[in-house]
Amino acid sequence: MAIERTLSIIKPDAVGKNVIGEIYSRFEKAGLKIVAAKMKHLSQAEAEGFYAEHRERGFFKDLVSFMTSGPVVVSVLEGENAVLAHRDILGATNPKDAAPGTIRADFAVSIDENAAHGSDSTTSAAREVAYFFSALEVCPRTR
Ligand code: TYD
Ligand code: MG
Repeated sequence: MAIERTLSIIKPDAVGKNVIGEIYSRFEKAGLKIVAAKMKHLSQAEAEGFYAEHRERGFFKDLVSFMTSGPVVVSVLEGENAVLAHRDILGATNPKDAAPGTIRADFAVSIDENAAHGSDSTTSAAREVAYFFSALEVCPRTR
């Protein structure tokens, strides 16, 4: 299996619930390594650029407003099949559909405030990692 990198965002609702450590713990227990991390309060332009693919969707304005409502924790996760492994731990986009024990089932209440983001493909992951981190800010893990 391929070692991949993927972008994680712990969204403002989850940061507000004080569950950053709990979410990181789930990544670690799943064998995903944190290879870059920072806390950031996104500007409107930063949130719009990140979610540019959704610009025409009806929920875009509310999504940007939510993503700028408080700080987020942005991380790069590395591991075997990291993109899908991370999406599995997150659960479905709508927490009502998310499997029990997933991050969205446990910490999110609605589709518009759903606790965390994960890249949906290796192509998106490459764009999203580069959006937030320079090459020097991603730390290869040798042990
Ligand atoms: P999307 O990329 O479809 O979901 P995911 O985060 O699982 O990749 O949508 C991006 C975010 O937009 C999603 O996490 C929450 C928000 N959103 C809504 O508020 N309403 C919606 O109907 C959808 C589809 C998404
Ligand atoms: Mg998505």
